[in-house]
Amino acid sequence: MDINAAILGRRSARDFTAQAVDDDTVRRPIDAAVRAPSASNEQPWTFTVVRDQALLDRVSDEAKSYLLAALPAGPESDRRRASLTDDSYQLFYHAPALIVISGSSQSPWVAEDCALAAQNLMLAAYSVGLGTCWIGLAQGYLNTASGKNALGLPAAWVPVAPIIVGYPKAEMPPVARKEPEIRWVG
Ligand SMILES: Cc1cc2nc3c(=O)[nH]c(=O)nc-3n(C[C@H](O)[C@H](O)[C@H](O)COP(=O)(O)O)c2cc1C
Repeated sequence: MDINAAILGRRSARDFTAQAVDDDTVRRPIDAAVRAPSASNEQPWTFTVVRDQALLDRVSDEAKSYLLAALPAGPESDRRRASLTDDSYQLFYHAPALIVISGSSQSPWVAEDCALAAQNLMLAAYSVGLGTCWIGLAQGYLNTASGKNALGLPAAWVPVAPIIVGYPKAEMPPVARKEPEIRWVG
């Protein structure tokens, strides 16, 4: 697929078919992820592929509790509280797989490196018919000792990009983008 077609066509997917995602299917976007640039070419990314649905349910429940506990009191949190207490809302939208890109180095650019790998992964996934969505709401919990423990991540790793992957039920139209603010200097 042409790179522009992938950039323009990719959308965050939150509704998936029951089709499983096998090892080879996951491998291709990961191979694209590691082609990303990284500071000093450290390539500090690691990939944890989770397909155990009971575990994803448990991690979602724990991440929701973690978010609820940190929610400020007051009406401005009401909408977020309502969704976090809704049992039918699973943070990972019951996707067949979650790929957590974690940084494994102390580099000050570990988050940037992993985010670049994440974008490569999402575009490459789209080019082979997969849908993805970065689940930022899981990041806080995954960075706790119990979150890392739940996925078997070493304590020194920093989970940066939890990305769900699966076959989307439908192609989605593009979402509007703001006009870029551009200042021309010189
Ligand atoms: C860092 C980051 C965190 C995100 N966290 C969530 C999330 O927790 N749940 C969710 O449904 N979507 C999440 N998204 C997806 C965004 O909502 C989505 O990218 C945005 O609305 C633009 O839509 P598009 O990706 O379809 O173009 C996240 C995206 C990014 C980049």
